[in-house]
Amino acid sequence: MLRTFKHFFFALLGVFALHVTLAQDQEGFISIDCGRPYNSSYTEKKTQLIYVPDTNLIDSGESHSILSEYKDDYQQQLWYLRSFPQGIRNCYKINNIRNGTKYLIRASFLYGNYDGQDTAPGFDLYLGSNFWDSIKLKDAANSLEKEIIHVLVQNYLHVCLVNRGFGTPIISAIELRPLNLSYYKAQTGSLALVNRFDTGSDNPYRYPYDVHDRFWYLYNSNDNWLNISTSLPVESDDDTFQLPSDVMSTAVTPKRANDPLEFWLPDDDNTTQYYVYMHFAEVQKLQPNESREFTVSHDGELFKPRSPDYLQSTTVYSSTGLTGGQLFKISKTANSTLPPILNAFEVYAVKEFLQSETLDRDADAMTKLKSSYGIKKNSWQGDPCTRGYLWDGLNCSYAGYDPPTIIYLNLSSSGLTGEIPHFISNLSNIQILDLSNNSFTGIVPEFLSWLPELTALHLEKNNFTGSLPVGLLQKSKDGLLSISMDENQDPCAMSLSCKKKKNKINNFVIPIVASVGGIFVLLLTASAIRWGLKRKQRDTKSLSQNGPLESVKRQFTYNEIAEITNNFDKSIGKGSFGTVYRGKLGNTQVAVKMLSESSVQGYREFLTEVQLLMRVHHRNLTSLVGYCNAETSLGLMYEYMAKGNLQEVLSGKSTSETLNWEDRLRITMEAAQGLEYLHYGCRPPIIHRDVKTTNILLDKYMLAKLSDFGISKTFPTDTRTHMTTEVVGTPGYLDPEYYRSYRLNEKSDVYSFGVVMLEIITGRPPFLHKFQEKIHISDWVTFMLERGDMTSIVDARLEGNFDTSSAWKAMEIAMNCVSSKPTQRPTMNQVVAELKECLATRNDNAHTESRENSIELSPSAR
Ligand SMILES: *[C@@H]1O[C@H](CO)[C@@H](O)[C@H](O)[C@H]1NC(C)=O
Ligand SMILES: *[C@@H]1O[C@H](CO)[C@@H](O)[C@H](O)[C@H]1NC(C)=O
Ligand SMILES: *[C@@H]1O[C@H](CO)[C@@H](O)[C@H](O)[C@H]1NC(C)=O
Ligand SMILES: *[C@@H]1O[C@H](CO)[C@@H](O)[C@H](O)[C@H]1NC(C)=O
Ligand SMILES: *[C@@H]1O[C@H](CO)[C@@H](O)[C@H](O)[C@H]1NC(C)=O
Ligand SMILES: *[C@@H]1O[C@H](CO)[C@@H](O)[C@H](O)[C@H]1NC(C)=O
Ligand SMILES: *[C@@H]1O[C@H](CO)[C@@H](O)[C@H](O)[C@H]1NC(C)=O
Ligand SMILES: *[C@@H]1O[C@H](CO)[C@@H](O)[C@H](O)[C@H]1NC(C)=O
Ligand SMILES: *[C@@H]1O[C@H](CO)[C@@H](O)[C@H](O)[C@H]1NC(C)=O
Ligand SMILES: *[C@@H]1O[C@H](CO)[C@@H](O)[C@H](O)[C@H]1NC(C)=O
Ligand SMILES: *[C@@H]1O[C@H](CO)[C@@H](O)[C@H](O)[C@H]1NC(C)=O
Repeated sequence: MLRTFKHFFFALLGVFALHVTLAQDQEGFISIDCGRPYNSSYTEKKTQLIYVPDTNLIDSGESHSILSEYKDDYQQQLWYLRSFPQGIRNCYKINNIRNGTKYLIRASFLYGNYDGQDTAPGFDLYLGSNFWDSIKLKDAANSLEKEIIHVLVQNYLHVCLVNRGFGTPIISAIELRPLNLSYYKAQTGSLALVNRFDTGSDNPYRYPYDVHDRFWYLYNSNDNWLNISTSLPVESDDDTFQLPSDVMSTAVTPKRANDPLEFWLPDDDNTTQYYVYMHFAEVQKLQPNESREFTVSHDGELFKPRSPDYLQSTTVYSSTGLTGGQLFKISKTANSTLPPILNAFEVYAVKEFLQSETLDRDADAMTKLKSSYGIKKNSWQGDPCTRGYLWDGLNCSYAGYDPPTIIYLNLSSSGLTGEIPHFISNLSNIQILDLSNNSFTGIVPEFLSWLPELTALHLEKNNFTGSLPVGLLQKSKDGLLSISMDENQDPCAMSLSCKKKKNKINNFVIPIVASVGGIFVLLLTASAIRWGLKRKQRDTKSLSQNGPLESVKRQFTYNEIAEITNNFDKSIGKGSFGTVYRGKLGNTQVAVKMLSESSVQGYREFLTEVQLLMRVHHRNLTSLVGYCNAETSLGLMYEYMAKGNLQEVLSGKSTSETLNWEDRLRITMEAAQGLEYLHYGCRPPIIHRDVKTTNILLDKYMLAKLSDFGISKTFPTDTRTHMTTEVVGTPGYLDPEYYRSYRLNEKSDVYSFGVVMLEIITGRPPFLHKFQEKIHISDWVTFMLERGDMTSIVDARLEGNFDTSSAWKAMEIAMNCVSSKPTQRPTMNQVVAELKECLATRNDNAHTESRENSIELSPSAR
């Protein structure tokens, strides 16, 4: 029934003169010329439509030109095509379009014997995950178009071609035209074009005649019909179907006045629903004694009689779907003097697109993964979870009509490098993640432990360094997650037992610290070390940003250290261990702690421990960047912490601004996470033994990092639950139980942390001079609480600007930490969990969440 596109464009050529005057607004049009081997867009001569190349919308397929003998018959956008000899499914992804927009989407195909085989192919066309139509091209010379009216459910659109074994799929053009949501509306589903006829006409029309660029095809001659027309323009309401005057100015009428005009709906299957739009306009000036009135009927249904206005369009359509095979009859009424007319009509079939596309977050993560690694796998096209066309290495879960989600991702042996990309954390339903046998470097990121469904994590055969995040270890310990990570750079450093070949880390035990003496004790008694506060100059780059941590050597000679510190010219701190200097390693600011000669002994132990410490990486621990082990000079090089230590910030010494409550909570949380990591994330665990506000340093983003953790504590080789050791630490922070019994375990750190929290809440030092005596902050707080005087506990400089519920919660945590009995103190795991709740109460009405995100992304966060 359809006349071909060839005729269509051939005819359009004849009325070219009109174009310039008619060319108008193409707003929202997207016109893609598929396979055009040039990068620039162009204006098509006949339609004035602007076509863009398809190069950015697809990364597969080949560009071809149709044979020149076919070009003359067609507009330019059909001169080239993209063919897909590789892969079963190939997809275009059209971005930058808005969810909820209704589009007329048209795909055009012209074989044009581009391959000289003279065999026109057949294949399937998909819109996203849903089958749209089968394409069977007749021959080289005739084009085929498929149109559908579809409301977007995403901010992008996939158009896919699927090879069915009947030749190589091709495509010539894709066009999107926005439509008003109020028209062409099916009760459910999208409307695929079956026919669109401009009856009585011998010219086909599209844009610019039709503002929506609908293609109006010619209706083949019907012997029973007569053509009638007007040369006057026919109006169409601006906000309805916006029918072109040229289409509406021609019509058909039955040859015998009393006959009806008839057409049939397709009857190839009885499940398809059809929507029919009949467009009428009177084209003859009626005499006073003339009338034209008719009814439209189908399958017993009858529309009320119509008398179209002169030169004014009107459309008759049913608002519900109709079954196929029906006869449409347009018949004159008894008192009408003229036969019925029909100017144009359209028939659409409903396509129910039931397959949801992959959950947006998941699809987005996969797209980023694909583009950031330039992954070129044939199957990695279109929607990742399309049934039957799953991306290679993926598996999805499908629950009813809900968007599918990714539950399995296998990137094994894909040649991937760099750190594990953060967007993997958006795959929130993933159960099995296999990253093995790549060249991933850096630390295993903490966000992997946030994936709630993850049950298996394969990290083996990579170059990961550092320890596993505490969250992962905990899950593994709880039997929720199996982790395999053999054959990494140094599996021992990753907190896994080297001896065990088992993939599952089940019996995670926390052996408590054993002893080492020597220089470390000296070091830990060091008084406050100030790293560069009040310096005018600021870092231009943070340490971790440019990766000197991993890529640059870490052992330095004395001369190199001298050079780095510019001959030790900027001393920024002093203690019994020696002096701290500021220096520059490349573009990175560092703090170099030189141990005084008197403390240089047992440097082999020093080295062993330094090497272990170099692998302890956590965003809330200052990193050891390097060390110097010249026989007479031992030095340690740390990242430089621009904002100094917490004590200075709290006391207001370093800045005139009072630290606000949100930042206090955040810093508390960050310090707690650093300490938690030492206790639970490192194997063997590390006890800090000198947790205090001067050892909590702040980088230029005010991100808190616990420092000195490597020096003041020691590493066990057995699993004793405590150890006896000399009492070390700082008065005021020292666990009274430890002081009494000399028995050290991680609860001593918890006590000190409780003191730190009290300082943060109250803004007061560990010892207060009150009531003519020196009293400990915990006793003072107890006293105030007993008096019921809660408000005066919180730092007065906050001027009441704090969230009371989070303040009381924090106070409760702190007081539990300073319980005199170690068994009554929480573990750092519990502290972190409680602080999270505390932050959550704050977050209900605050912005802490965004703050957290920004920290995660800041260059110094690890
Ligand atoms: C199109 O641009 C890309 C890079 O933007 C370039 O590699 C390619 O050669 C260009 N192709 C043509 C035909 O100019
Ligand atoms: C698109 O819009 C629909 C309906 O408004 C909504 O249900 C859906 O979540 C939106 N999808 C995206 C990706 O925004
Ligand atoms: C009406 O116009 C069509 C298209 O130009 C043509 O094919 C057909 O023969 C015409 N019918 C009559 C009866 O002239
Ligand atoms: C869509 O049609 C409705 C009803 O005719 C009209 O009110 C609205 O302005 C139209 N929207 C656009 C974007 O043209
Ligand atoms: C549709 O067609 C099939 C086969 O021709 C037939 O079995 C079925 O009853 C029909 N259904 C309806 C609703 O007519
Ligand atoms: C209408 O009137 C004209 C003369 O004015 C006449 O020629 C014609 O036959 C009439 N038509 C009908 C249907 O009566
Ligand atoms: C035709 O007749 C009916 C009544 O039988 C009347 O309501 C209608 O207006 C008439 N139509 C015309 C066009 O005269
Ligand atoms: C994908 O998951 C389904 C259901 O869990 C399972 O039956 C199927 O074997 C999985 N396919 C692959 C390739 O893992
Ligand atoms: C991932 O794929 C590789 C090879 O394709 C296979 O050997 C391995 O078992 C897969 N991993 C998982 C967890 O299924
Ligand atoms: C995760 O998904 C959200 C929502 O789609 C997006 O805003 C965010 O940027 C994504 N995160 C990453 C790291 O890609
Ligand atoms: C790990 O890194 C070393 C040296 O940096 C390199 O030789 C080795 O091939 C890497 N291993 C993997 C699995 O990428």
